[in-house]
Amino acid sequence: MTANTLSNGRPVFTIVVLGASGDLAKKKTFPALFGLFLHGHIAPQTRIVGYARTKMDRPDFLKRISQHIKNTTTPKVKVALDQFLDQCTYVSGVYDQDGGFQDLEKELKRVEHECKVQDRLFYMALPPSVFIPVANGLKKNCYTTKGINRLIVEKPFGMDLESSRTLSKALGALYREDEIYRIDHYLGKEMVKNIMILRFTNQIFGSCWDRDHISNVQITFKEKIGTEGRGGYFDEFGIMRDVMQNHLFQILSLIAMEAPASLNAEDIRNAKVDVLRTIPPVIESEVLLGQYGRSEDGAHPSYLEDDTVPKGSKTATFAAAAFHIHNPRWEGVPFVLKCGKALDQQKVEIRIQFKEMAANNNNLFGKDVAARNELVIRVQPEEAVYLKMTQKLPGLGMETVMSELNLSYNSRFTNLQVPDAYENLILDAIMGEQSNFVRSDELDEAWRIFTPILHKIDRHDGSIPVEVYPYGSRGPKQLPEFIRRFGFERHLQPYTWPETSQTAANPSSAAAGSAETESKL
Ligand code: NDP
Ligand code: BG6
Repeated sequence: MTANTLSNGRPVFTIVVLGASGDLAKKKTFPALFGLFLHGHIAPQTRIVGYARTKMDRPDFLKRISQHIKNTTTPKVKVALDQFLDQCTYVSGVYDQDGGFQDLEKELKRVEHECKVQDRLFYMALPPSVFIPVANGLKKNCYTTKGINRLIVEKPFGMDLESSRTLSKALGALYREDEIYRIDHYLGKEMVKNIMILRFTNQIFGSCWDRDHISNVQITFKEKIGTEGRGGYFDEFGIMRDVMQNHLFQILSLIAMEAPASLNAEDIRNAKVDVLRTIPPVIESEVLLGQYGRSEDGAHPSYLEDDTVPKGSKTATFAAAAFHIHNPRWEGVPFVLKCGKALDQQKVEIRIQFKEMAANNNNLFGKDVAARNELVIRVQPEEAVYLKMTQKLPGLGMETVMSELNLSYNSRFTNLQVPDAYENLILDAIMGEQSNFVRSDELDEAWRIFTPILHKIDRHDGSIPVEVYPYGSRGPKQLPEFIRRFGFERHLQPYTWPETSQTAANPSSAAAGSAETESKL
């Protein structure tokens, strides 16, 4: 069945946000919906209905969902915001009884009658404990037989392979796979979407993207803040489930997969699953865990001092792990994934470290002169791609210097705005484009690789130690040694990456006033 479309070809859906009183809804979902509305990506007829247990009247609801919508001072945006809010209504109801969903259905019929729309997009911005009751309630009471039904499901999708399969089976009994959109918002990030284009349209990268040229790949997620109020949820999951098994693993599959047969969602997802199938489960000796303690100056509390964290918790807030891909392209190239909260920096990046030149081994230019090339894809903040390379230092001698070919989005694409990940993905779901959503077999493979180690970690029996690292530091002190084990070589020459706009905005943050010294986590 195809969606009803407008004259400009955009499908028109009624959008239902379940869990509309929550944190994600107010911080991400509604701002993303407004962004799509403002830029004309969703039709003026679109109606948005919020649903949650909290009792609130419409003005309270509208106030809540507009709190995080930014840059609303220009008259054009103000007018658009008023129009957008005009289209949003709220229904209060519980998640496990028909009554609430019947009220929701009445509201859906009312708005659909008003704007002649029949297709429905349900966004479950809800804790996983209620995914199934809600999916059930919707199927029973709010599933339209006149048009399309699409269901966006948030992460975490299960706790391990078994629970994820149980969830998949339960959802699969209610909705077809082409109706289910498992969201991983990292797949909506600009630089993550750029990976396939970089790899498969540039001969320079395409021809050296393999074990003959690449020594190791590092994928790093660093957050400066700790759990700060989200400790209840986080403590149950830990950093490996919260970030590594999904966000970083999606990046890994895009970096490592073979070229898909086409850009069709199934071909892309087949290529991702194929590479995941060649990865064995993570092993204990190739994992490093940490939990943040108090900052060295005492200004920031430790994880255990967060009121929302259970006393004495051993949950890891930092994890590094090595993955090995057993196929002809990647045999022998470790992929090291690292993620942590309360670290020294806020950044997500992919660092592909190439092997050294044979001439370097022969000491043509002397020892340690030509450092390894690195291709760095900076996902956030300040999207950029740069290639680190050795050059002659201008002058009479033959001294070398590490420099870079640098594409900083802020300086190259000055007139273009990078869309928010959720905007990208909600629009994909409206358009019926599933390639940036996670298919159930992809999820299954990711859980297969992680489940044995997660079960060991969950036992908290000391076999995998959890090292305390200070809030605001680079993580556990064993980290440099850990990444060296997997072939990562730290450049001996000091290197700075000229990060233009951030530097301009905050000169004191940059080394020598014009560049930022790379952190080697
Ligand atoms: P919230 O804890 O804010 O929950 C959303 C809403 O669900 C709440 O407003 C509440 O609404 C209802 N709710 C909360 N706890 C329960 C419960 N135990 N039983 C039934 N209903 C409950 O979660 P978030 O908005 O932070 O997250 C929603 C989903 O999005 C989760 O799956 C989360 O993992 C995922 N996510 C969140 C991110 C974020 O930045 N917040 C980022 C990425 C993913 P009411 O009581 O009114 O019914
Ligand atoms: C979420 C995790 O999925 O991603 C959070 O639950 C994490 O713990 C967040 O902070 C990071 O997302 P972003 O888009 O800010 O990098």
